[in-house]
Amino acid sequence: MRRMRRLRAAGIRELVAETQFSLKNLIQPIFVDERLSEPQAIKSMPGQFRQSLESLPAEAGLLEDLGIPAVLLFGLPANKDEMGTGAYDPMGVIQRATRAIKETTNLIVITDLCLCEYTSHGHCGLVRGQKILNDETLPILGEVAVSQAQAGSDIIAPSGMMDHMIRAIRGALDLDGFTDTPILSYAAKYASTFYGPFREAAESGFSFGDRRSYQMDPPNAAEALWEVQLDLEEGADMVMVKPAMPYLDVLRAVKDMFGVPTAAYQVSGEYAMIAAAAERGWLSEQAAFLESLTCIRRAGADLIITYWAKNYAELCG
Ligand code: PBG
Repeated sequence: MRRMRRLRAAGIRELVAETQFSLKNLIQPIFVDERLSEPQAIKSMPGQFRQSLESLPAEAGLLEDLGIPAVLLFGLPANKDEMGTGAYDPMGVIQRATRAIKETTNLIVITDLCLCEYTSHGHCGLVRGQKILNDETLPILGEVAVSQAQAGSDIIAPSGMMDHMIRAIRGALDLDGFTDTPILSYAAKYASTFYGPFREAAESGFSFGDRRSYQMDPPNAAEALWEVQLDLEEGADMVMVKPAMPYLDVLRAVKDMFGVPTAAYQVSGEYAMIAAAAERGWLSEQAAFLESLTCIRRAGADLIITYWAKNYAELCG
């Protein structure tokens, strides 16, 4: 008689587990705020902090010592303007943060490439009236990519969902000699309410409208495959599905269809839900994060970006 429970005995269960993940697959996001002199707690993301440029090297060193392989950097500039010029300032916050980490650690630095933290209106592209401009934004994204690469970024991660951004960025990088710098495209990035806490963390909320004219519509999955295909054709080396848990079907479809290195982003709202429930004693933080990360990996993620990476390293690294 077939008895499924035979293989669920302790010890045997681990032998037949179909999914493994380890610290080697995890990427820790870091927010760096150039106005701060010391780390500041992010209210909507319990346990998460914005770093200052001064506190950053020590934090990065700690992450490296814990065995975390890579970080994803977000910069909060002191000043914003219509054009997001702070995003490609050689002395800008993300450039200085990148240099500081590369000088003091061997961490892989992935730089998020978007204008929304740097524009006064908070959108990911240039704006005319109420319109988010596409083609006018592309050369700026190219400039930002080059300035990030010059600062030492190992991987450029464009998250603005402008059409043809990958082609523009690949072209600009190649022209400047950065032919070996890979691009991790936020290819299937949905207009998700689960980014709410991030917008507090990165002060990247928008002054009008929403992001639905450039980010994907949650009902669509086939469209995600199309987005991924276009980004690969334009030169993306890795692709991302974002958010993670509500979009596991999309993740699985992308991995099955293209077989390329695929990242999933467990976003701020996913983090906050578990962290808040844990604070109330309604969920076990550790068990909930471990299960969620295992399931994201089971659905096809090679790399997982998660705010819980450091906690994972401390517990299980
Ligand atoms: C910037 C960007 C966002 C996130 C990553 N890069 C916010 C947005 O698109 O509004 C969200 C990350 C998170 O919620 O953890 N475009």
